[in-house]
Amino acid sequence: QVETATQRLEREFTISTSMLHNMVKAFIRDMERGLKRDNAVMKMIPSYVVRRPSGDEDGTYLALDLGGSNFRVCEVTLKGKGQVRTRQKKFVVSEELKTGTAVALFDFFADCVGQTMDEYHLDKNASLKMGFTFSFPVDQHALNKGTLFYWTKGFTASGVVGVDAVKLLQDAFKRKKLRINVTALVNDTVGTLISHAYVDTATYMGVILGTGTNAAYVERIESIPKWTGPKPESGEMVINMEWGAWGQDGIILPTTEYDAAVDRASPNPKKQSYEKMISGLYLGEITRYVLIDLISTGQLFAGRRCQALEAEHSFDTANMSRIERDHSMELTDTKSIFEDLYAVRQTTLSDRRLIKRVCELVGTRAARLAAIGVASVVTKTNKLAGCTVAVDGSVFEHYPHFANRMRDALRELLGINADGIVLAQARDGSGQGAALIAALADVGEEDI
Ligand code: BG6
Ligand code: GLC
Repeated sequence: QVETATQRLEREFTISTSMLHNMVKAFIRDMERGLKRDNAVMKMIPSYVVRRPSGDEDGTYLALDLGGSNFRVCEVTLKGKGQVRTRQKKFVVSEELKTGTAVALFDFFADCVGQTMDEYHLDKNASLKMGFTFSFPVDQHALNKGTLFYWTKGFTASGVVGVDAVKLLQDAFKRKKLRINVTALVNDTVGTLISHAYVDTATYMGVILGTGTNAAYVERIESIPKWTGPKPESGEMVINMEWGAWGQDGIILPTTEYDAAVDRASPNPKKQSYEKMISGLYLGEITRYVLIDLISTGQLFAGRRCQALEAEHSFDTANMSRIERDHSMELTDTKSIFEDLYAVRQTTLSDRRLIKRVCELVGTRAARLAAIGVASVVTKTNKLAGCTVAVDGSVFEHYPHFANRMRDALRELLGINADGIVLAQARDGSGQGAALIAALADVGEEDI
């Protein structure tokens, strides 16, 4: 009996419970490898953040936040007792800047900071302290020092890989005559974890499910064999996992021909395999390749070409959210997406049902894969009795059913223990987290 298109896609995109279990085993093994040595697939980078906030931190700090869909400049005022006030301005980083030179990119950051300080009437001579959230894989050498291993998420600017990101920023400030002292360099996952821990002390993991994906968690220092620095008093260290790279050795992830196509067309082929199956920059793109294939085999739109869908990245993940949210009998919103935005002359109800099923399959697979990372960390660190996982990012926040699908997979993996794991929605936390880390540095963790 011949398989239908839907049956074939279901077979290719479904991750069964037993596959989930096997992948958790492999994930934990790869976490351990990363904690042992420097050149592992999952980098497991010690962040130099060795304490979680007490809630008593205070003072005013600046924060820069680069790496998601927006670039932000924040002024963060910590008021003690877990209270915090943030003002922030968002800027768009153009494709030209993302793919240009280090000087152009960092001068732009400095200009945005200058503009924000003017607008907020901040004293440019006051020598303010700043936390810099730079959400890329950084080889951290100190709390405020770290060199970029490689770019991810579509950035390719020259002159940044292998260079200290804080120095690049500090140099740009010098050129723009801004007296700012960058005292912390932070990944967004670490920032999210720390800012959520400021209000909920059970938080010990921060996850980003947005343009890219990654996580950070609190590890015991004895469990990080590659750490040769002094032992922090707290006995713990926040680890930036860089889990997006998982699976790039090509063994474990159940990739399809569509994933391979997305990977080949990306600026970083054969890298960030897990991220490319989960995060917002890629979900729309995977779906687009599936739809193009279904058109070419005559199974969609009666085989009529849809030119608007043929350009790379022409199908945003936000469209999938709309389609998955379309519960009307006739799938009218899906109809309007394709007939109005993508100029398809006519769609049938069965076309629209097929498209919706494709989105469900790609979206569900992403959520189940993300659950693997969470279940692995919780299992490895023995937090099955309960903990809070702070999650930020546009996919977790806006993609319908994402959180529930993750919870389903967690339950399949962990049984009733999954009920103690709170996936808490964090919002815009990493700028605040960077400021908090700058504040923690002030009270004397610079010794490690
Ligand atoms: C934000 C953080 O809230 O979430 C960013 O402050 C982070 O640093 C971002 O990168 C992820 O979201 P997205 O969806 O914009 O990539
Ligand atoms: C990418 C980056 C990582 C970041 C994540 C989420 O995976 O490499 O550093 O945390 O995106 O923004």
